[in-house]
Amino acid sequence: MSVALIILAAGKGTRMKSDLPKVLHPIAGAPMLHHTLRAGSALEPAHTIVVAGHGSDQVRASAMDFDPSVHVVLQEEQLGTGHAVDQARAALEGFEGDVVVVFGDTPFLQPDTLTRMVEARRTHDVVVLGFDIAELQPRYGRLVMDGDRLVKIVEYKDATEDERAIRFTNSGLMACDAKVLFELLSEVTNNNASGEYYLTAVPELANARGLKVTAVKCDEAETLGVDSRSDLADADAIFQTRARAQLLDSGVTMMAPDTVYLSFDTVVGRDALIEPNVVFGPDVTVESGATIRAFSHLEGCHVSRGAIVGPYARLRPGAELAEDVRIGNFVEVKNATLATGAKVNHLSYIGDASVGEASNIGAGTITCNYDGVMKHRTEIGARAFIGSNTMLVAPVSVGDEAMTGSGSVITSDVEDGALAIARAPQVEKPGMARKLFEMLRAKKARQSRGS
Ligand code: UD1
Ligand code: MG
Repeated sequence: MSVALIILAAGKGTRMKSDLPKVLHPIAGAPMLHHTLRAGSALEPAHTIVVAGHGSDQVRASAMDFDPSVHVVLQEEQLGTGHAVDQARAALEGFEGDVVVVFGDTPFLQPDTLTRMVEARRTHDVVVLGFDIAELQPRYGRLVMDGDRLVKIVEYKDATEDERAIRFTNSGLMACDAKVLFELLSEVTNNNASGEYYLTAVPELANARGLKVTAVKCDEAETLGVDSRSDLADADAIFQTRARAQLLDSGVTMMAPDTVYLSFDTVVGRDALIEPNVVFGPDVTVESGATIRAFSHLEGCHVSRGAIVGPYARLRPGAELAEDVRIGNFVEVKNATLATGAKVNHLSYIGDASVGEASNIGAGTITCNYDGVMKHRTEIGARAFIGSNTMLVAPVSVGDEAMTGSGSVITSDVEDGALAIARAPQVEKPGMARKLFEMLRAKKARQSRGS
């Protein structure tokens, strides 16, 4: 059965108090919308449609960034969830198969739950996803059941006292044959307490036609929605707790897991050691047996076996560390490859560069990659030795087994095996320091006699 996924993301998210559309706020390094798109991709949808409204240009750009084949439709006025789904009607003209509706602000949705809904569709015409609430809350619509038949969904505002006491509530997700869904949506009115076109009116309309309507159940935690910054922080915390537990479980050592911030896609091999207060931005792979020492910040990088990074290191996108590389304190690496056993132990910037096998980069070395207009590369060979405080003015190369003298400003290529020194020669004035110290003492003596 072919599936079309519709993600509702037009709401303003007023309580976020933000210029950024709600669904673009990040959790664990990825916009909420991407979490939903990722879960939805488990259904291998033939069409994915995002209904955008507020900040639709930004939502479109972000959706395309995830998958350029995503179709973004505009809901100019937010007249309700039913009206929102209806905006996909034209895009799905002639589509035969199931529509699965999900909300863009429920980042914990599990792919398996979507699969269960589609499976339930084999025996029912309309399938709604529900969950039991621990505490009775006004924010959810109630599912009125008769055995396993879903009679109707009542929004809290429209519910009777008895209905408000129902704990089985609506997550907002729905699966239905596309043609049937759009037919039923045409019958939805806004005759309710909110004056909105509710998607939740669909089950009752389906029953009136004698269709089979049911609800499948998931865990409350999975449907956790984000409406405020506080919800966002809670959601991130939940994500972190789970991700840390998964890493520990897979054989990673973390000395203080609660202080390690992970991204949705962080990969760490077994027997790697993560010290306290490490931040992983998106797209980081740390191989088995590598060590990330305290207070390091990594994003878009690859750390191979046996490498040691930090403390206080920063690896930026394109940092590629081969086996046994050492990156020490206050070192920043960006768009640079370091071959096996290379060492950059202190206070350096290595950007747009390659460093050969077993080369040693002295403290304070900087690849001057930017001339104010363009970026240029620095190529350092194997077993080279870069003296402390060398400025490598790119584009420039230093050959295999070459050296640079401390404090050099290297502006032209250094050939294999050569030593390059590029600094002003030392000038020495014999006795000059002693003379200056004597002048100072004499001055102090005059001052104390005068006072
Ligand atoms: C909705 C459900 C409620 C359910 C709850 C679960 C309806 C009528 N109610 O209520 O039964 O218990 O979710 O969280 O469906 N949206 C649009 N366009 C609109 C309106 C909403 O795109 O015109 C989007 C929002 O951006 C959001 C989602 O639809 O992603 C849900 O809208 P929201 O206003 O949060 O619905 P609730 O009142 O929470
Ligand atoms: Mg809501």
